[in-house]
Formats: sequence, C-alpha cells, structure tokens
Amino acid sequence: MDFKEKILILDFGSQYTQLIARRVREQKVYSEILPYNVTIERIREFAPKGIILSGGPSSVYEKDAPIADKKIFELGVPVLGICYGMQLMAHCLGGKVSKAAKREYGRAELMIDDDADLFKGIVKQKTEDRRQKTEVKKTVTRHPSPVTVVWMSHGDKIVKPPKGFLPIAHTGNSPIAAMADKARNFYALQFHPEVVHTDNGTKVLRNFIFNVCKCRPKWTMHSFIETTTLAIREKVGRDKVVCAISGGVDSAVTAVLINKAIGKQLTCIFVDNGVLRYKEAEKVEGMLKRHFHMNIICVDSAQRFMKKLKGVTDPERKRKIIGNEFIYVFEEEAKKIKGAKYLAQGTLYPDVIESTSFKGPSATIKSHHNVGGLLKDMKLKLIEPLRELFKDEVRVLGRELGMPDEIISRHPFPGPGLAIRIIDEVTPQRTEILRKADTIVLEEIKKAGLYNEIWQAFAVLLPIKTVGVMGDERTYENVVAVRAVKSVDGMTADWARLPYEVLGIISNRIINEVKGINRVVFDISSKPPSTIEWE
Ligand code: XMP
Repeated sequence: MDFKEKILILDFGSQYTQLIARRVREQKVYSEILPYNVTIERIREFAPKGIILSGGPSSVYEKDAPIADKKIFELGVPVLGICYGMQLMAHCLGGKVSKAAKREYGRAELMIDDDADLFKGIVKQKTEDRRQKTEVKKTVTRHPSPVTVVWMSHGDKIVKPPKGFLPIAHTGNSPIAAMADKARNFYALQFHPEVVHTDNGTKVLRNFIFNVCKCRPKWTMHSFIETTTLAIREKVGRDKVVCAISGGVDSAVTAVLINKAIGKQLTCIFVDNGVLRYKEAEKVEGMLKRHFHMNIICVDSAQRFMKKLKGVTDPERKRKIIGNEFIYVFEEEAKKIKGAKYLAQGTLYPDVIESTSFKGPSATIKSHHNVGGLLKDMKLKLIEPLRELFKDEVRVLGRELGMPDEIISRHPFPGPGLAIRIIDEVTPQRTEILRKADTIVLEEIKKAGLYNEIWQAFAVLLPIKTVGVMGDERTYENVVAVRAVKSVDGMTADWARLPYEVLGIISNRIINEVKGINRVVFDISSKPPSTIEWE
C-alpha cells in the first residue's frame, strides 16, 4: 500500500500493539506493525513519517530482551517510545534503566511539566464527580503541572535519561514518566496512550502524529479503494480470479472490491453445504448479482455434505468433514474456470500480524482461512486485498462500496454452520427444524432492535426429548436452546440479558411454529468457561 504519510509501529510483544495501529488509523493516518527486529533496509523502504516503539513484557537488561536496530535513531524520523519502547530508547541512547522499587500497574495521575508538544492542549483533569473536580482544580492552581489520568503497566523505570533528553511529565511514582529530546524529535512515555483508560491518550498520539511527525489525515476508505483497485488491476492484468464466498462479511467485501477493480474477470463460488441458515445462499447470491452484477456460481452440494455427515456425532469430525468437503467442491468448480490464475481471500490484518509478529508464526490459523494452501495443483496465486485492514475497517469499506447493511452488520457465522449447533447426528430433518427456530430467534431480536448490540444470537437443537401438552394431546418432542452473547472479539463473551418479553415471544413462536419442538431454554453461560458455540 503506498500511502506516503505513514507511521511504523515496531512490535516488542505488547498486548496493545494492534491497538496503537488502530488508534493511529482512527486519525486517518496509515500505520503498519512490523516485528522489532525488521531490517533497517526494510524500514527505509517503508519510509515512515514517524516510528512508534510498542510496549512489551521484557526488561531491556534481560539477556534475551528484544532490541531493535539502533540505526532507527539515525533515520532523522521522529520516534515515540511507549513503556518498554521508552526503556529501549533510554537503553539504546545511553540512558539508564533499572527495576522500579514498586511495580506500577493501572491508574496513575500524570503531572505534566512541559505542555509545549506532546501534551499540548491537555489541561483538564477528568474526575468522577464535581466535588472531586473542585478539589483537583484547587490542586492544579496550587501546582503548575496539569494533571491527567494515565494507565501504567511497568516494572522498570528510567533512572537517568539519555543525553539530550529532558523529563516532560512525572507521577508520584515515576519522576520521569515522559521525556523528550526535542532537537531530534524523540519522545517517550512510561504510560499507554493507546488504551481507553488513559484520559488524554488520543490527544497525545494526535500531537505526535500531526505536530511532531507532520502527517496529514489522508488515510480514508475512499483513498484505500482507489489505491487498491488500481493495484489489483495492475497485478491481475487480463487474467482471471476466483473467490470463495461464504456469506460472511470478509469474503463478501473482498469479492465486491475485486469486482470493482476487474468486473467479470472475477468469478465467485458459493458452496451450499446444506447447513446454512434459511435462504442464506439465495440472499448472498441475490445481493451480489442484483447490486453488483457479479459472476457467481452457486453450487448446491447439500446432499453430498449430508452423506458425509451421516452417523457423525463428534464435533471435531463434523468440522473436518465440512472443511475438507468444501475444499473438494471449490476445487472442482474452480478448475472449470479456464485461465484462472488468482485466488482471492478475505484475510484480515490481525491474521497477518499473528503470523508475522513478535510472537512468531501462529500455529492456529483457522482452517477456513486456509483455502489457498490446499489448491496446490492449480497453482493459484493469492490476492488478499483486506490484509491491511481490521474488522471494523472492513465494515466501513463495505459501506463505502455500497454494500447493504444486512450483509455488513451480520453476526459471525461459523464455517461448519448449523452442523455444530445440532448436538448429535446432523440429518436433513434436524437441520430443517433448527433452521426454522434460528430464523425466529433472529427475527425477534431484530424486531426488538437488539441485533446490533449482540455479537451472536442463534438456536441450538438438543438431542433430548421432553414431554409437553399441546391442545389436549401429550407431545414428546425436542428442546431448543437459545444462545445470545455479547462480545468484542469472540475470545471472551457474556450472555446477553435479553428482555423477558423478547424471550417470551421467541419461545412462544418456536413452540407454536416449529413442528418437532415443545420446549425452549435460554443459555446463561459466559465464555470462559463455556464457549459460544455448543460444539
Ligand atoms: P467458540 O465456540 O470457540 O466460538 O467460543 C468463538 C467464535 O468462533 C466461531 N467459531 C467458528 N468459526 N469455524 C468458524 O469459521 C469453526 O469451526 C468455528 N467454531 C467456532 C463462533 O461462531 C464464534 O464466533
């Protein structure tokens, strides 16, 4: 991606590194993360307007501490060190770092001693209540330093700043909580400006990006689309591209973006594996054809998948069967497209970082992201136009490309589909029952205006039968569990407190409208220790 004004983030293993990149991009300045030990040539080639050194769990004086090439300080580019990045800066430039007498973790009050550059515009303390505010104001008038709340997480501290550096802020615990060498545009912070708990964190980052690095806010989705479509056109030339569509946001946005670049040279393949949601294939195909006039092949392989799933009850076996069968079907179809040279995938930036970052290649790339590797004999080259984007940026991109909200804001849906929501064996009859119940759950949650507040909501078909009474007749039918969770990334989740009224309607409708169900229960487990899916 060739955006001239970009910030480079060197990763020293902090859990917040991705957050720094996102915060910079939120300011409409392009940023990328590279591992701390990237070569100086690569950095020169990247040509950043500024470099941010991330935090990290190590101590600079440890034997195997990650140390970047010291030449980064000779590039004439502004550098901002955060936490470990600050200590690294001190260490590399001749200062002294040592273990802090007291580990500082969490909230701290930062006294700003120099508000000319990095802390420009930070004058007010945010407090919980007015009484406290007045007290703080009094403190501020007595004390020349403006106070702001910051988030600390460190065990080491700077005891002697390198030559040319002066302290620009302190806390009760850290006499040098921030320092600067203004002549060289080097700044360093002991706290984390990227986390929400740091009150003026965004302002500090903005000051660095705009005032120190002199970047301009040019990184917009509009410019991303222009640059990317141009690059795709150049790369593909007159060749053909195939793309597997799952109905999920990432693959759909990938397809629409590539379609914008090369139109009919792209063919999408949508495999109906028989365990999709109600009218899923029709909806996605309809949207892509109607709105974007795309070449799309829908392959109805439901029977083929069902045959393979017959008698299978183990969740992992279900996953494997569906994953492998998907590849076989996709391969068969892709081979029919004469002249196909490229395979488009919706790989996102977090997947890329996982496999290249400080922590080394990830062993756990999800199988459904890994279609490319399995099409070896076709020798398709990969196109991954979203590999620089975060999930929320993909949604913005989708909207900018004119995709309907129904596709953009949909809940995640697992590759193995309803098969891992039918406990026990998957049969066409059970799939049909679950599909109907699932539709009702989603309809009612949407009607109640709760869909966008919820990470995922769905029904699970349980393999137990319970007694009921309908009219004057005794029934002996299955149970459906309703699952609705709130989450930020799917890694942890809490069960959504759905209003009783909504739960009541869902239960009523399922029992009345779905033949084969006479009882509905609500799942009130969080993750961990439970998982979001039941299998
Ligand atoms: P769990 O059940 O592990 O789910 O808490 C976390 C998130 O991952 C999704 N999920 C899957 N997605 N293939 C997928 O594509 C899978 O095999 C799979 N298993 C779980 C799940 O829907 C949730 O969003």
